[in-house]
Amino acid sequence: MSAAERWEQQLSEWALPAHVLEQAAASPWEHDTRRFEVDDTLDRDVLSATVARSVLPRTGGSVLDIGCGGGRAAMSLVPPAERVIGVDQSSAMLAAFTTAASAAGARSMTIEGSWPEVAIDTPVADVVTCHHVAYNVPEIEPFIGALTGRARLAVVLVLPTVHPQSAWSPAWKHFWDLDRPTGPTSDDFAAVLAEMGIDAERWEMPRPPLAAAATDPAEQVRAGLRRLCLGPDRADELARYLDEFEPQWSDVHTVFRWPGDAPT
Ligand SMILES: C[S@@+](CC[C@H](N)C(=O)[O-])C[C@H]1O[C@@H](n2cnc3c(N)ncnc32)[C@H](O)[C@@H]1O
Repeated sequence: MSAAERWEQQLSEWALPAHVLEQAAASPWEHDTRRFEVDDTLDRDVLSATVARSVLPRTGGSVLDIGCGGGRAAMSLVPPAERVIGVDQSSAMLAAFTTAASAAGARSMTIEGSWPEVAIDTPVADVVTCHHVAYNVPEIEPFIGALTGRARLAVVLVLPTVHPQSAWSPAWKHFWDLDRPTGPTSDDFAAVLAEMGIDAERWEMPRPPLAAAATDPAEQVRAGLRRLCLGPDRADELARYLDEFEPQWSDVHTVFRWPGDAPT
C-alpha cells in the first residue's frame, strides 16, 4: 500500500457508525467560525509564522491561505505580506477572513469552494499556507500538488502530530462505548510528501494559543455536543464530564515547508 493510500485508509476509519449519526442534530465534522477567528490571542511569533515570514519578500508579498478559516495563518504574516487570498468551503469563515484582513490593513480576496477543485480559479501567491486542514482530506496527493502549484516561493503546512478529533476519543468511549482510531499522524503525512518526491523541511512546535471562543467553557460544551452527536438534553451531563476530563488537544504541532513551483 502506498503512503497516500495508507493516509486515505486511516482517515476512512474515522467514519461514524450510522446509529450514531442518525442521532446527530448537526454534522459532527463542521467547525464553528468563532473558534477560528483572529483575536487578541493570535501569536505572530510562533514558529510556523517565522518559517513563512523568512521566505516572504520584505514588502508587497502575498499569502494564499487554503482552508483559511478566519485567517489566523494569513494574518500572522501581515506585514510583511500586503495581500492575502483566502480559500475555504465555508462562506461564514470567508466573511471572518475578509473582516480580519481589513483590520490588519491587507488587500484581500476570497474564493469559496473545496481545494483542490477551486485551484484553477485561484491566483498564485508568494507563500501558500495551510493550517489544520490536511486531516480533512482523504485524497491527499492532488491536494498537496495544487498547494505546490499555486506557491511561487514556498508552501507552509501545519498539522497537529495526531488527528485533532483524538481529543474527543475518551469521551466517545464514555458516551457511546466507541473506540476511535489513532492514525494517521504527521509522520504519515511526511511519508506522503516523501513519496511525491517533495523535499520538505520539518519542525515540531508547541501548540499555539487557541482563539478565545475555543477556550470558553460554555462553547466547549456546545462544541462537544456536536462533535459527539449528543442532543441538547445531554448538556449538563457533558459539562460535568468535561469538568473532570478536559479534552486533551495535541500539545505538539508539526510544521512542513517545501518549495513552490508556480511561475515567478
Ligand atoms: C480546522 S479549520 C482551520 C482554519 C484555519 N486554517 C486555522 O488554522 O485557524 C479547517 C478549515 O478548513 C476548511 N476546509 C476543510 N477542508 C477544505 C477543503 N478541501 N477546501 C477548502 N476548505 C476546506 C474548513 O471549512 C475550515 O474552515
